[in-house]
Amino acid sequence: MSQLPPFAILCCQNGVESAVKAEVADQGWRLAFSRRGFVSLKHAGVATELPSGVFVRTAAWSYGLIEGAEASANVDALVRRLAEAAPNEAWDRLHVWPRDRLTVGKFGFEPGVDEMSRLVGECVAPVLHSRGLLRQSGFNIMAAAGERVLDLILIEPSRWAIGWHSIPPTGSGERSGSDPPGPFLPATWPGGVQPIAPTVPVVSRAYFKAAEAIAWSGLELRAGDLAIEVGASPGGACGRLLELGMRVIGIDPADIDPEIMEHPRFRHIRARAGDLPRQEYSGARWLLVDSNVRPDQTLTTVEHIVTHRRSTIRGLLLTLKLGGIAHADRIPGWVRRVRDWGATDVKVRQLARGKMEVCLAAALPR
Ligand SMILES: C[S@@+](CC[C@H](N)C(=O)[O-])C[C@H]1O[C@@H](n2cnc3c(N)ncnc32)[C@H](O)[C@@H]1O
Repeated sequence: MSQLPPFAILCCQNGVESAVKAEVADQGWRLAFSRRGFVSLKHAGVATELPSGVFVRTAAWSYGLIEGAEASANVDALVRRLAEAAPNEAWDRLHVWPRDRLTVGKFGFEPGVDEMSRLVGECVAPVLHSRGLLRQSGFNIMAAAGERVLDLILIEPSRWAIGWHSIPPTGSGERSGSDPPGPFLPATWPGGVQPIAPTVPVVSRAYFKAAEAIAWSGLELRAGDLAIEVGASPGGACGRLLELGMRVIGIDPADIDPEIMEHPRFRHIRARAGDLPRQEYSGARWLLVDSNVRPDQTLTTVEHIVTHRRSTIRGLLLTLKLGGIAHADRIPGWVRRVRDWGATDVKVRQLARGKMEVCLAAALPR
């Protein structure tokens, strides 16, 4: 790829732009332009890596904006822009999606590809393919390791931000066509939102959150493993764990959906996690927490479980409620606390399907 441009374009959840700007400032990135759910940045020096952070859902090197109400004129402008900015380059994938125009969950809003981005993709992809700029005529197909992706973000339907990113190669760096390690998976998904086709009834949107958390974390959850979820009602996340073939215990004082209750690999413990003897957790390999309590309380509950000498927990996926983006500065303290339990590979991300909360993933060596 030709020389890296000094501008980057990011997508994030609507309303967390201030946290994005703060976390990438240390990496040398300064704000150029922003809208809710979209941030463009200029590097103060020479950028060698795209900005990254807890609240960064997608990141791309920028080729600038294209504006106009006529789709065909915009496509022509895009072809010219690519010829100027990256002569002789071609891309493996085209991803087209809108910035988040609403907060996740507000009025039922879910992030990711929408009807307008599908229409734009249908205009753009065939033209780029016929000019040899796009190797495949389709669009919004998951990218694979080693592939390069052309990104088209609809700031508005008539205002497109153009950029590109590449997916790191797997292992030796020679192969392409397979999944990269977990942390890089969101970069393979159009708009950073996991494409998923559930094969079980989805009893709550937490199904999608759990699927995304498991994929991104890189934790090796396997069929037959025992997973426990604290804050399991009504059972969306448990549905995902069951779909993956695991044995599941759901702890929650509230009811679990009958679809989940009837599953032969599921057991409900009707209790608050803190009231349970620690032996209830023995034999479990994975602990998920999605209870609507303050993060300090969640961490105290988890600490009690995983620091017990007989704990068999190998990995954690914790939902930590932020209670407002102004509290993002508490995240480093939460990470330190989890590391103090001996956890390794502690990472935090605001999941695309998460609301005003973050997901903390950690491995616990045993
Ligand atoms: C956001 S909902 C969980 C959604 C669920 N993970 C799913 O997949 O459908 C939060 C749940 O946490 C539960 N909860 C709150 N405090 C709890 C505690 N101390 N122990 C267990 N569950 C708790 C609530 O009863 C509520 O059902």
